[in-house]
Amino acid sequence: MTDDDNILVAQGLKKSYGSGPARVDVLRGLDLTVRAGEFLAVMGPSGCGKSTLLHVLGLVTPPDGGAMRLCGRAVPRGGRTLQQMRRQNVGMVFQRFNLLSVLTAEQNVNISLRVRGLARDGARVRALFEEMGVDHVRRRKPGAMSIGEQQRVAVVRALAHRPDVLLADEPTGNLDSASAQRLLELFRRLHGDHQRTIVMITHSAEAASVAQRIVHMKDGTLCDS
Ligand SMILES: Nc1ncnc2c1ncn2[C@@H]1O[C@H](COP(=O)(O)OP(=O)(O)OP(=O)(O)O)[C@@H](O)[C@H]1O
Ligand SMILES: [Mg+2]
Repeated sequence: MTDDDNILVAQGLKKSYGSGPARVDVLRGLDLTVRAGEFLAVMGPSGCGKSTLLHVLGLVTPPDGGAMRLCGRAVPRGGRTLQQMRRQNVGMVFQRFNLLSVLTAEQNVNISLRVRGLARDGARVRALFEEMGVDHVRRRKPGAMSIGEQQRVAVVRALAHRPDVLLADEPTGNLDSASAQRLLELFRRLHGDHQRTIVMITHSAEAASVAQRIVHMKDGTLCDS
């Protein structure tokens, strides 16, 4: 963690796709400050750029312009420091999960620990699988899991390395209400008991109500609700 109260600071983020008449300006000078230990929900209509924003914040996609600080350090444009920050500081739950199809659920989590240079922690990982209600699919590959099970395995993988900032893209989007409640309860505990910082994209007002603060994305920027 950092002494800085603001764990994540983004200033003037810009991101466009395509060129010429096909160009789409998705982020248009977006500013965002997230305090350490904050639980933030990001809402906005489909296609407004929420996933793009999360990928930029998670250091997966480089922005076209703007600057970011994460855990007290300026985010560089590339190189080893960027890779190190991506691996150590951030945990991502992608909207499409991005689980490796040739590996079992447990192997997906273990390989994520290995690329971060962390030892396997079987007991802790199993506890996370149990907490997410997906212990029964630990030895199954994604193709043999339901969409909601894959989503919950993606949450286990994102949390396994104890990231400073958890970035979750619609983490309840494919869950029944009981599973969604369970996930939100885990997020609430991570935030409340462990002071974990969470940025969660959601279309669900119920999910957003668990967060401390809700921001809305509009015209490539964010505004408070
Ligand atoms: N790789 C890409 N190339 C071109 N356009 C893209 C690309 N990725 C996203 N877009 C466009 O950028 C815009 C923002 O997409 P994004 O996925 O960030 O939206 P979103 O708010 O997450 O939507 P949803 O709620 O449906 O998940 C959309 O208009 C989309 O079509
Ligand atoms: Mg999206």
